[in-house]
Amino acid sequence: MGRQKVVALAGVDVDIPAGSFTVIMGPSGSGKSTLLYLMGGLDRPTSGSILVNGTAIEKMDENDLAIYRRKTMGFIFQSFNLISSMSAQENAAFPMRFAGVPAAERQKRAFDLLKLVGLEKRAHHKPTELSGGQQQRVAVARALVNNPGIILADEPTGNLDTSSGLSVMHLLSDLHHNGRTLVVVTHDPRMVRFATHVIYLLDGSVVTAEQYHSALESLEEQENSSDEVKA
Ligand SMILES: Nc1ncnc2c1ncn2[C@@H]1O[C@H](COP(=O)(O)OP(=O)(O)OP(=O)(O)O)[C@@H](O)[C@H]1O
Ligand SMILES: [Mg+2]
Repeated sequence: MGRQKVVALAGVDVDIPAGSFTVIMGPSGSGKSTLLYLMGGLDRPTSGSILVNGTAIEKMDENDLAIYRRKTMGFIFQSFNLISSMSAQENAAFPMRFAGVPAAERQKRAFDLLKLVGLEKRAHHKPTELSGGQQQRVAVARALVNNPGIILADEPTGNLDTSSGLSVMHLLSDLHHNGRTLVVVTHDPRMVRFATHVIYLLDGSVVTAEQYHSALESLEEQENSSDEVKA
């Protein structure tokens, strides 16, 4: 950033097994989104390598990477990123435009996926006419529309109330049981119940569960004692 160098991740060495439900946990600013974006080829590393199904994605040019991403990966963003002028169905169908799928087939597939996420009755509603949880389910449908083997999600339940959050978690868990690989960034400890693997990040580095929990505990103690000082 300008003249200031920000190290978002350093010395991260992780292996995400195919077919796993991997959760990435860490405090704000620890590098979770950066790691997810690197895995998904939305960001490029300054050094190191990212192998997806054996392919070093940092070596691909933008065009090849875009095609590869479309075939292989689906993204679910924290803020849904839906297009406000389009209906739920048009949003879900959108990524297929670039995949050469005929229009009628696009609409059918998008509708089938809206059914899967329980939104067939809302297919023609615009995002502003949907609740947060419903918008997030449209985003899940959109991520699935090109039938990717890998799903990357950044805080998919971050903007949702408790029960909508849980229904999105169950939806993600179903995708995992259907054979997909999921990588999910979350603050929500409930997500860990669905996970087969957990990666803990602190200050841009991967740490063990023990290191993570003891660091969080000492942070909390510090906060408590500074509250006492203030009081
Ligand atoms: N485009 C950028 N330019 C400069 N620094 C950045 C940029 N994006 C992120 N950072 C910095 O990199 C670090 C990691 O950011 P990242 O967004 O990966 O964190 P995060 O773990 O996803 O946090 P949060 O839970 O708040 O979303 C932070 O210190 C952040 O300030
Ligand atoms: Mg983030």
